[in-house]
Amino acid sequence: MFNTPLIAAPMAGGTTTAELALAAQGAGAFAFAAGGYKTAEQLAAHIAPLRATGVDFGVNLFVPRTSPPAVAQSAALAAYRTELLAAAGRYGAEVPTMALAEDDPRVQDFWAEKIALLLSDPVAVVSFTFGLAPAHVVAQLHKVGTRVVASVTSAVEAVAAAATGVDALVVQHTNAGGHTAAFLPEPAPLAAAGRAATSAATLPELITEVRRSVGLPLVGAGGVSRPEDATAALNAGAEAVAIGTALIRTDESGARPLHKDALADPAYTRTAMTRAFTGKPARALVNDFVRDHTETAPQAYPEVHFLTAPLRAAASAAHDPRALNLWAGTGWKSAGSGPAAAVVDGFLRGL
Ligand SMILES: Cc1cc2nc3c(=O)[nH]c(=O)nc-3n(C[C@H](O)[C@H](O)[C@H](O)COP(=O)(O)O)c2cc1C
Repeated sequence: MFNTPLIAAPMAGGTTTAELALAAQGAGAFAFAAGGYKTAEQLAAHIAPLRATGVDFGVNLFVPRTSPPAVAQSAALAAYRTELLAAAGRYGAEVPTMALAEDDPRVQDFWAEKIALLLSDPVAVVSFTFGLAPAHVVAQLHKVGTRVVASVTSAVEAVAAAATGVDALVVQHTNAGGHTAAFLPEPAPLAAAGRAATSAATLPELITEVRRSVGLPLVGAGGVSRPEDATAALNAGAEAVAIGTALIRTDESGARPLHKDALADPAYTRTAMTRAFTGKPARALVNDFVRDHTETAPQAYPEVHFLTAPLRAAASAAHDPRALNLWAGTGWKSAGSGPAAAVVDGFLRGL
């Protein structure tokens, strides 16, 4: 489906630039544009240079939530806002009062407008994360010749995704950098034991687990930091593997220099899953903000994202990585700098 075993994963929030996608594509990877957080107009501008190549590429979108956070979450949100005031004060940043209506375009992430854009001006592949696109949207995309990919993190999610009619799955292991694609709550006994909805310790194990449940083509993602990780995922039955963290430090990546530098800084010794920055679990390098707020941050995405955004911007302006969301997969130490084409080439040669 992708005509190559290597995919440049979508990384919203500025990391995936058109230049990064083009460089990865030019070196033989299948490139995904990152549609998350963008308006339809911004998405159109982001993908225009990719359209110009005439080579197939994908567009990734966030699926908005279908129900608002529970009332208890709102109380938790207010408490979290109060907790953040001290950290914000250090940077002279505001902590906005959050009350987002469900129809706020920021809650919907400009979903309707972006789907309309992709239906009127189709691309080869559209992938979704944070949830499942409704079956009628999948059917509409099929009608205009687009293949549709859903992101899943367990066999249970894979079965649910397959039922919507998608053509392939991104199977994301918890080792992945950035937000988890998980959209189904973990079964209570597993959550209580601090375990995920899958027992797969590694990406190849997760691929094997998902392959037993669905017959769709699979893309393995999460912790693929060296060619041997990619080979192991392909041997487990993935059609391709996606790399994200491995591309963050490249020349064409739009990640903040502070983020790129942190990934190469031996002072950071581990990553953790945290809701502290956005209200949705995401894997990041452990810095002060992660240490101070992981226990208390409520499950309220995207409210927490907007709550912490000015604080993160101010920390960035102050060249201070201690309050930044330094997204990183567990393989971050292998992420190299230099041209993205060299990273892609290194993977392709090593397969
Ligand atoms: C900075 C960053 C931003 C990301 N943004 C997105 C996104 O917008 N959409 C998405 O589906 N996945 C996103 N991801 C997850 C990647 O698509 C991919 O699943 C992950 O990077 C693979 O694991 P790895 O980072 O260990 O290579 C992001 C990951 C990172 C590191």
